[in-house]
Amino acid sequence: MHDIEAIPSPGRKYRKRDLEGLDPVLLGALLRERIHHNIEVPLYSMLQRRPFKAVPNFGLQAQLVYDEWVRRGLPQDGPDLDWAKRYIDIAAQVRRGERPGIPELVVSIPEPFTKSEMEVVRKLIWGRCSIRNWTSRPVPEDLIEKILEAGRAAPVGCNLDAVRFVVLRTPEEKSIIWSDIPTDNAVIIVICYDRRIAETVGQDKMVPQNLGYDAAAAGDHMLLMAHALGLGGVWLSKTAKSEHTEDTGKIFKELYGLPDHIEVALHVAVGWPASGIIKSKRIPLSEMIIAKK
Ligand SMILES: Cc1cc2nc3c(=O)[nH]c(=O)nc-3n(C[C@H](O)[C@H](O)[C@H](O)COP(=O)(O)O)c2cc1C
Repeated sequence: MHDIEAIPSPGRKYRKRDLEGLDPVLLGALLRERIHHNIEVPLYSMLQRRPFKAVPNFGLQAQLVYDEWVRRGLPQDGPDLDWAKRYIDIAAQVRRGERPGIPELVVSIPEPFTKSEMEVVRKLIWGRCSIRNWTSRPVPEDLIEKILEAGRAAPVGCNLDAVRFVVLRTPEEKSIIWSDIPTDNAVIIVICYDRRIAETVGQDKMVPQNLGYDAAAAGDHMLLMAHALGLGGVWLSKTAKSEHTEDTGKIFKELYGLPDHIEVALHVAVGWPASGIIKSKRIPLSEMIIAKK
């Protein structure tokens, strides 16, 4: 059986026996990461090569992690497993020297939006604005779920899926989040990430910022969905302990009994807008582009 040699360099080295002791949450993250770096990323450039030749070791690191997942009888039916399995099968084809066919690969090729679709994009991207004043009308659970689903669809570094959510609904729950605005009428979504996942794949050393960015991308997707649902949302910073602020993450983790490896990244507050706002405007694009050849 092959070993995983570097995940990715200079990440931790795993042998088969190391995988046996790995927490299933971390094993799943390692599987997604290995599928990503060991199959998905190299695959598409490899397909350009003509003639197509067998690559005997292709995807074997991912296969090793997948075999351990199966050996332990861990769930086979999750959407991430479905994705992983498709790449595992494609890698086996590549090792046999069979060029994977287009039907196995194509999910959808992006096409330019039509004029009316672009109108919706315009309404979404340029229409979204931060709302900080909400009515007392409750936010239905199905809309909260749609917002969380939008967060779930956001891009994530290396498919690690380390982002976690907590929804705060009651005034008592919300009072633990330090904020510069009253949030009595809003629902607050706390966006966290599991720090162990980056450590498992060595990303805490190579790209330590990524899990925070994953959380931020989820927050942005959520705010866009809230806008599309007619709700109003705002990003609320996770504050550190200072003269003016409390350490929101620490207080929150203590009260909820969350383990130390859960980091709070940011919060999103959403509710029914009580009023419109004067939409802020950005500096001109020419000022934002700071280098050009
Ligand atoms: C990283 C970040 C942190 C933010 N923190 C807060 C915050 O703590 N409180 C708040 O009221 N708004 C916060 N906002 C919202 C910004 O103030 C808002 O996006 C900005 O003023 C631009 O307005 P717009 O969202 O209407 O385009 C934050 C936004 C970002 C991206």
